[in-house]
Amino acid sequence: MRGSIDFLLNGEPVSLSDVDPRTTLLDWLREDKNLTGTKEGCNEGDCGACTVGLTRLTPDGPRREAVNACIQLLPMLDGRAVTTVEALAGPDRLHPVQEAMVDLHGSQCGFCTPGFVMSLWADLPNGPRADADLPDAVAGNLCRCTGYGPILAAAKAMHDLPAPTWEPDLAAPLAALPQGSARLEAGGCTARLPRSEAELAALLAETPDAVLVAGATDAGLWITKRLERPETLIFLNNIAGFADIVEGGDALSIKAGAPWADAHAPLSRLAPDLDEIVRRFAGPQVRASGTVGGNIANGSPIGDGAPGFIALGATLTLASAQGRRTIPLEDFFLAYGRQDLREGEYVSALSLPRPASPDALRCYKISKRFEDDISAVMGAFLIERAGGAVARARIAFGGMAATPKRARAVEAALEGRPWTRATIEAAQAAFAEDFQPITDMRASADYRMTVARNLLLKAFLESDGDLGATRLAAPADHGAAGHAAADHGAAGHAAADHGAADHGAAA
Ligand code: FAD
Ligand code: FES
Ligand code: FES
Repeated sequence: MRGSIDFLLNGEPVSLSDVDPRTTLLDWLREDKNLTGTKEGCNEGDCGACTVGLTRLTPDGPRREAVNACIQLLPMLDGRAVTTVEALAGPDRLHPVQEAMVDLHGSQCGFCTPGFVMSLWADLPNGPRADADLPDAVAGNLCRCTGYGPILAAAKAMHDLPAPTWEPDLAAPLAALPQGSARLEAGGCTARLPRSEAELAALLAETPDAVLVAGATDAGLWITKRLERPETLIFLNNIAGFADIVEGGDALSIKAGAPWADAHAPLSRLAPDLDEIVRRFAGPQVRASGTVGGNIANGSPIGDGAPGFIALGATLTLASAQGRRTIPLEDFFLAYGRQDLREGEYVSALSLPRPASPDALRCYKISKRFEDDISAVMGAFLIERAGGAVARARIAFGGMAATPKRARAVEAALEGRPWTRATIEAAQAAFAEDFQPITDMRASADYRMTVARNLLLKAFLESDGDLGATRLAAPADHGAAGHAAADHGAAGHAAADHGAADHGAAA
């Protein structure tokens, strides 16, 4: 058992054995390593000022991603490579990302610039994007003064500049890092890094109150914002096979530790409407860290995963030292903040049945901003039709109750009836039997109820075939100007009241 965590920092091996496991990468970089190019803005994953590169070994070789250093706890780096803005420039020239940002005036006060540069650095190997998709690369970064036009121009131009020849190949150094389970103890906190599910189950049997940390995009905020000091942490990032995704003929199986970034393409293939849901889930940094299992386990009534998954008929596998059990996903959410998770149990996997037709699933996220915002209401409709009538309806909502919840009365009002506007209008009345939403900073109860009813109508209208017309912000409309106009500045962001506790907790 290692008593250290081991990773690469700008290509150099680092072994830490006496560091408090609750330390964030941002604090460590700035305060211990004096690497102050990485900035602190919000300290809660929202602004992207602290973006750094994180490279992990995959079966296809090293894969680089952008992550928010402010919500990466140091043990999450174990076995990975951190790249900061200080390491980008070559011996006699700036990195093409930096060069493009300078040439196209992508920086004004400069505070956000290292974060944007690192997001673009992570995106560079993916090749040029279509103009309409450029904002996706920096959807997790905020700029207060430049405006997004010049930054997006740089995101395009960086691909025309000569590739950097000086960047190290991280495959061998990553493979050479020490492996195996680890235990890190310092500052009154113990962190365990199991390598197998069996080891995780045994650890949880020993310390059932330990806090599990997957991507820390919720749990990290408890430390940085709520200033909680958990004493025992179990990190899930090094468990073999815990991020596996298997696309079978009948079902898509996603292990709990799969980050949203990895699940994006398989989910989109299962049901194309999930593409937009994942694309609008936070920004690239949060999707690179945040896991599908963490999103389910936190039980948030406004989490974006559950409604679509419940509508598809997902099952959840829970595991502990006592064994495994599989339940319908909707049964997992018992009450606000209470999930069907027994002592010593963890979320192991999610299985999503393949719908008869991929287009049978319609999902709608309603939030104040298009990108990087939490849902006010999320509606998911699986409507299977036969001979002009509704053969099967599975409908689930987020933001309408204390948990993600099925709309069983609405389903009953649809099933067996003709798929007509009259049926839809009758079914809209049934929403009042299923939901009594609350008023909070994201939406009023009336707004939520009206939106939910209208989303059913929208699903009906879209089923007539004109899919694009009812989408408010289809990707093609979403170019550079749209990005700036989408109120993606500091003020709009603050107005969205996207506070720490709200990401996972509030309804
Ligand atoms: P963690 O933070 O590591 O853990 C969350 C909780 O689940 C903790 O209680 C942890 O102990 C527990 N847990 C984790 N894994 C397991 C497991 N396998 N078994 C049992 N318990 C476990 N969410 C959305 O739905 N939509 C959004 O658009 C969105 N935007 C966000 C934007 C920002 C800026 C941030 C910071 C967060 C956002 N979130 C959003 C919330 C968050 O990113 C997601 O809920 C994410 O999927 C959580 O996964 P994680 O791996 O980071 O979980
Ligand atoms: Fe990390 Fe804002 S400081 S995202
Ligand atoms: Fe000032 Fe972006 S250049 S915040």
